[in-house]
Amino acid sequence: MVKINDNFLKLPGGYLFPEIARRANAFSATNPPMPLIKLGIGDVTQPLAPAVIEAMHKATEEMAHKETFHGYCDEIGYDFLRSAIAEHDYKARGVDISPAEIYVSDGAKSDCGNIGDIFARDNVVAVCDPVYPVYVDTNAMAGRAGDYLEAGFWSDLVYLPCTEANGFFPELPERTPDIIYICSPNNPTGTCATKEQLKVWVDYANKNGSVLLFDAAYEAFITDPSLPHSIFEVEGAKTCAIEFRSFSKTAGFTGNRCAFTVIPKELERGGVSIGSLWNRRQCTKFNGVPYVIQRAAEAVYSPEGQQQIRQTIAYYLNNAKVIKTGFEQAGLTCYGGEHSPYVWFKTPAGYGSWEFFDKILTQACVITTPGAGFGPSGEGFIRVTAFGDAAATEEAVRRVVSIL
Ligand code: MLT
Repeated sequence: MVKINDNFLKLPGGYLFPEIARRANAFSATNPPMPLIKLGIGDVTQPLAPAVIEAMHKATEEMAHKETFHGYCDEIGYDFLRSAIAEHDYKARGVDISPAEIYVSDGAKSDCGNIGDIFARDNVVAVCDPVYPVYVDTNAMAGRAGDYLEAGFWSDLVYLPCTEANGFFPELPERTPDIIYICSPNNPTGTCATKEQLKVWVDYANKNGSVLLFDAAYEAFITDPSLPHSIFEVEGAKTCAIEFRSFSKTAGFTGNRCAFTVIPKELERGGVSIGSLWNRRQCTKFNGVPYVIQRAAEAVYSPEGQQQIRQTIAYYLNNAKVIKTGFEQAGLTCYGGEHSPYVWFKTPAGYGSWEFFDKILTQACVITTPGAGFGPSGEGFIRVTAFGDAAATEEAVRRVVSIL
């Protein structure tokens, strides 16, 4: 009889966001007094930039003619998109990354999860706490996390607490991990690391032969020019880091699916090129992002595209400001929201995260994300996304403040 991967059976409950949706739907079925406002999952709400739509129309038309039709693409992305990424996301910031080091994919979520395929099962993995649950759950599925313990920890993971005391940036652990996930601007806390902070981890990873998995999906929200958008802005990172980027939040592509992973040619372990392993993995298990979507992503880098996506990012950042200011004026302690679309706030004394999530849901009819869903150190916090409609966000703030 077939044997299943019983690591899946160790996973507690469902994935965080479907679980929140389940609770919200159950509440919705009770005829709540007001329409629900969704500020839970970080899904975008504003339409695609006109330059992106125009590129999609043009590419769709190309697909209608034999001469310009495209079938399978290069599994790691068309050269036109990889060149645009190298030029605009890296060269423009003084970072030398070649198109050959860029692997286009259907999502940073998939890449963050799939990257585990190229690393042995017995690597020691470190995650921040709180953390984007994909890093933990995918390592649990692969058998690297060990057993789920009552307190919300996995037995074999190294946890890097990110708390108010350390400014939500992790300190070096006692036990040396082989794989280290870092996300900046951070999901869920909304804080953003400086170059100096990242340098500590780059030096540590180089010294120990570890690999840093750097999730930069929210880099477009950085407003302070001194903060790094890429781990490769930090000296030494090319020999120890892999970077994940996405068009999802940068350009509203959550429904379009386009992202990319950067693995420098200098990154080797045991004499093996990590990029070549990822290339082998992707060519075997993935057939590439549709031509129309890659043309749409390319249009993000046009002068019009850049100007249009920046307007949308400013719209979301203004929502973040509205949330943060409104909550702070009402006496809540808030973090993030300045270089990030997430505001991370402390629940009022006495409330656990799920408890306060339920209170906001049932009394204010606003969906948020309980901090405990991101790990044990998220207990006592709530994450609110700024990706909503501006008027709905203002209304949500009014409603939450009114129930405090
Ligand atoms: C989130 O809410 O944390 C994100 O939307 C999840 C994701 O990007 O997959």
